[in-house]
Amino acid sequence: MGDHDSEVWSTLTKFMLGLAVFAVVIFVVAGSMAAGNKEAAKKDNAASNDKAIAERIAPVAQVTVAGDKPAAAPTKKSGKDIYSSACFACHGTGAAGAPILGDKAAWSARIGQGTATLYDHAINGFNGMPAKGGRADLSDDAIKSVVDYMVSQSK
Ligand code: HEC
Repeated sequence: MGDHDSEVWSTLTKFMLGLAVFAVVIFVVAGSMAAGNKEAAKKDNAASNDKAIAERIAPVAQVTVAGDKPAAAPTKKSGKDIYSSACFACHGTGAAGAPILGDKAAWSARIGQGTATLYDHAINGFNGMPAKGGRADLSDDAIKSVVDYMVSQSK
């Protein structure tokens, strides 16, 4: 090999070495960038996954408006509740000539009879008013609480 040849080899070797160093640098930089991305992606995923899972497994009952009291099952139905389920059909609409809840004129004379009579008529029936509104399953006390509610709303 002549001087020229060795010079070519030396240049070539330097060039190859440079290329190798460059490749290593690229490799390291790319690697660290990829690692950074992966970390960020992992964090993103973890965050959105946690949220999604929390939403998916959230008990339906927890979906309450802020400030609401947690919905507790009522131990005893209020007169209003019973009214809605057992009496509204007639007393909310006037069906069968029933005095409508809140109609003061229709209720004043009835209320004037006294509570005992109203209880009696509600529990045992009176003309078009079926005994207990047709709800024999309701206790006398339950009916009384509804009558109290109806009276309180109608005077
Ligand atoms: C099928 C229809 C109907 C249902 C259901 C019904 N009512 Fe009545 N109610 C009537 C009618 C009609 C009258 C009017 C009767 C009359 O004065 O001749 C009446 C009258 C009354 C009166 C007044 C009685 C009086 O002395 O003037 C009360 C109190 C009353 N209802 C309570 C209730 C309660 C409590 C319920 C539910 C548990 C109920 N009603 C469900 C039809 C109904």
